[in-house]
Amino acid sequence: MSTILVTGGAGFIGSHTCLVLLEAGHDLVVIDNLCNSSEESLRRVEGLSDKSFVFEKIDLLDQPALEQVFVTHSIDAVIHFAGLKAVGESVEDPLWYWRNNVAGTLNLVDAMNRADVRDLVFSSSSTVYGMPEELPVTEAHPLGPVSPYGKTKLAVEDLLRDVAASKPGWRVALLRYFNPVGAHPSGEIGEDPTGIPNNLMPFVMQVAVGRRERVAVFGSDYDTPDGTGIRDYIHVMDLAEGHLAAVERLERFEGCEAVNLGTGQGYSVLDVVRAASGAAGREIPYELVPRRPGDVAAVWSDPGLAKAKLGWQALRGLDEMCRDSWHFQSRNPHGFAKT
Ligand code: NAD
Ligand code: WQD
Repeated sequence: MSTILVTGGAGFIGSHTCLVLLEAGHDLVVIDNLCNSSEESLRRVEGLSDKSFVFEKIDLLDQPALEQVFVTHSIDAVIHFAGLKAVGESVEDPLWYWRNNVAGTLNLVDAMNRADVRDLVFSSSSTVYGMPEELPVTEAHPLGPVSPYGKTKLAVEDLLRDVAASKPGWRVALLRYFNPVGAHPSGEIGEDPTGIPNNLMPFVMQVAVGRRERVAVFGSDYDTPDGTGIRDYIHVMDLAEGHLAAVERLERFEGCEAVNLGTGQGYSVLDVVRAASGAAGREIPYELVPRRPGDVAAVWSDPGLAKAKLGWQALRGLDEMCRDSWHFQSRNPHGFAKT
């Protein structure tokens, strides 16, 4: 069992992954500046796992504090979630995104290099593919992100490819997630966005719980069976298990390699609204509105490489995603801080 440094571990995907890592017997050192999360999620991870771990409130931009983490603790591997992820916000303030996501990762990799830690799992995104040229999307698909957010993800991938090629010993997994949703089945941890949710599932859940009036369905004239956008939604527990598989199989990664984490199955916006209505046991009102600029009609993954390389595949379907999202939302109608 190893000691894993998890950056951004208080966030949505990080908290679920921390739980799965603890349950698999790993020791954790978690760092997060809590800019988009609450320490309460980590307290709940401790409660669910009945295990404790080190948490330090550190910003990746604070290089001395970051270096100190590697001096204080004997770290075997790093899972790097910390980053900003809102597409619209990245268009309004690209400098913030480039500084936080790219300079933050530069600091982390620098600190790893000095401490001789060369095992890294990085949270990349399907957004690096840009407009899909063919479906399903394999890792060989051309890269061309559109938003500043997506460009920072590609820049970090490039940075890591260069570093891994510079000297032997680096083992880097770039995990490109599709659309993470759902929550731990206990309903104790889940997705708790601040402000108006940008993503579909948290918005749908906030309508279901009565915090918002109706879902705006962005576009009903796409070339898809029901006219609404199709995405590859993946349960966050599947994603967390994918990280466990990746960090435990880094010996299969020579240098730096990208792997899709998706289900390979696409669902439309109306499929999600319907499944969420079933899970919540109430009709979720929606209205059809014009397309959201920058959206594509349909995208889903080819998850074959993840299965071959990690021995991992997503197991949970759309109904389970909605059931668990609803369980978290109904138990925590106003998120972590205000329950
Ligand atoms: P999240 O915002 O819930 O978690 C990110 C965490 O990183 C937060 O707890 C935040 O406080 C922390 N953080 C941000 N900047 C930091 C900094 N400079 N120093 C220390 N901590 C910092 O987001 P998430 O959904 O859990 O996403 C985790 C990662 O996965 C992100 O890198 C994101 O870009 C990537 N990703 C997310 C999705 C998605 O749809 N959720 C899809 C693909 C990729
Ligand atoms: C899903 C579908 C919308 C909200 C984004 C990022 C991507 C990745 C995942 C981080 C689309 C529709 C949405 C709403 C709607 N994140 N929709 N009404 O755009 O596929 O991907 O999150 O890496 O990089 O771009 O996800 O959840 O925003 O949208 O109709 O209120 O739901 O048009 O078809 P998206 P999403």
